[in-house]
Amino acid sequence: MNKTILCIGAGYVGGPTMAVIADRCPDYKVIVVDVNVKRIAGWNSEKLPIFEPGLDEVVKRARGRNLFFSTDIVGGIKEADIIFVSVNTPTKTFGAGAGKAADLQYWEKTARDIIEHAESDKIVIEKSTLPVRTAAAMHRILASNSKKLHFEVVSNPEFMAEGTAIEDLQNPDRVLIGGMETPEGQKAINTVVDIYRHWVAPEKIKTTNLWSSELSKLAANAMLAQRVSSVNSLSALCEQTDANILEVSAAMGMDSRIGGKFLKAGVGFGGSCFKKDILNLVYLCEYYGLPEVAAYWEGVVKINDYQQRRFVNNMIRRMFNTISGKRIAVLGFAFKADTGDTRESPAINICKMLLEERACLAIHDPQALDNAKMDLDGVDGVIEYVDDPYEAVRGAHAIALLTDWKCFKELDYQKIYELMEKPAFIFDGRNLLDHAGLYEIGFNVYPLGQKAMSHLN
Ligand code: UDX
Ligand code: UDX
Repeated sequence: MNKTILCIGAGYVGGPTMAVIADRCPDYKVIVVDVNVKRIAGWNSEKLPIFEPGLDEVVKRARGRNLFFSTDIVGGIKEADIIFVSVNTPTKTFGAGAGKAADLQYWEKTARDIIEHAESDKIVIEKSTLPVRTAAAMHRILASNSKKLHFEVVSNPEFMAEGTAIEDLQNPDRVLIGGMETPEGQKAINTVVDIYRHWVAPEKIKTTNLWSSELSKLAANAMLAQRVSSVNSLSALCEQTDANILEVSAAMGMDSRIGGKFLKAGVGFGGSCFKKDILNLVYLCEYYGLPEVAAYWEGVVKINDYQQRRFVNNMIRRMFNTISGKRIAVLGFAFKADTGDTRESPAINICKMLLEERACLAIHDPQALDNAKMDLDGVDGVIEYVDDPYEAVRGAHAIALLTDWKCFKELDYQKIYELMEKPAFIFDGRNLLDHAGLYEIGFNVYPLGQKAMSHLN
């Protein structure tokens, strides 16, 4: 084996990233460790702990060959030359910066574990998204070791999106590697470049200083989320003016300076990163005395909350100003299609708002029902979790479509119409379905950012 790589944190980022590295670099030994025993057992089993298209094949090829999942963090630290850290960095819920700043306690604890157990020099790579200048603090903590070992911190943010993680990792737009502008820093950058060179073209591997690399991750996520909020804000205006957001998005997207991606109106962005990273950016701007910049980015999150509230208000208004006691089939709970992940999913807030109005929910999702149960655990109200979509819609007054799962397009809507109470409403929060066809069947159809199609007036 060429070198041993350790990854601390076997989550949505660490697991797939290391699986692809091991697959593409058979000359490296890759060990992935986590404090969560159940998660590691999952990674070593037939049913992996996360659902991600293509992941099973990659793991099967490499696991036991040069990819190992373990809870032995100490052993891993001793053995590895290169340590990726992808532990979670949630939004702080307490103390200074609560609600905005990143909680770095797991990161710092990991740094201290590395100091305590290392017996040789290491390159420590930030894979988790971190506030700008975290590496400075990490360098300080790691340099405080009494063993006279050298730890070089490198930033290598992950840009993969869930649902397409394997494709994104195998064929990235770019790989970003930031390091200190010192000879040791440059050497460490090159060590990390060597890993990616196994399968990524040299022109796609971009090296920068540490701070640019850290900020680029926050900036990229903020820009992507900003596009979603921008288009969602316009969807509200479309509904008032009979303009159609699909046509507006398409027209904007044809401008090569704007580009067509990330212009889909919906019930708002979710996922573990966007909100957390923007709030983090907001906190940093406030910290560095830039309140105007902070307010600008905070607006992106505010519009996201507004869009969810707006969706619920529209449902209530269209259903004769009351949904109390009415069964509503919620199609989709994951924050996007092709994942079972529900972190920050708009469905969580929307379901809570519907329950506050005393609606009875029947929630269906092809992958995310277990997470949905945890997210809504303890919330007051009537909630059913239903594996069969046709059972979910039975006796429902309305369908709220919240995730863009392709399989929802293939359902038999004639049958669904017959199973539902009348008048039957569909609120398509992702503009996924064939609205004209549904209207013809008899549904009252409320797409997002488009004219309502109602038989009621
Ligand atoms: C998370 C963040 O959401 C993302 O912003 C960051 O870039 C990387 O970390 P993700 O992999 O999706 O991404 O998080 P999660 O699935 O929660 O995985 C983190 C893992 O780290 C968990 O399995 C957790 O058990 C583990 N962990 C956490 C440790 O092994 N040690 C710790 O001290 C803390
Ligand atoms: C995002 C970034 O894309 C990725 O680069 C980063 O590493 C992690 O955060 P992810 O959260 O997995 O990835 O999914 P993404 O595809 O970006 O979608 C985020 C949210 O925005 C989803 O809820 C999605 O439904 C929503 N979205 C996306 C829209 O509402 N409209 C769009 O046009 C695009």
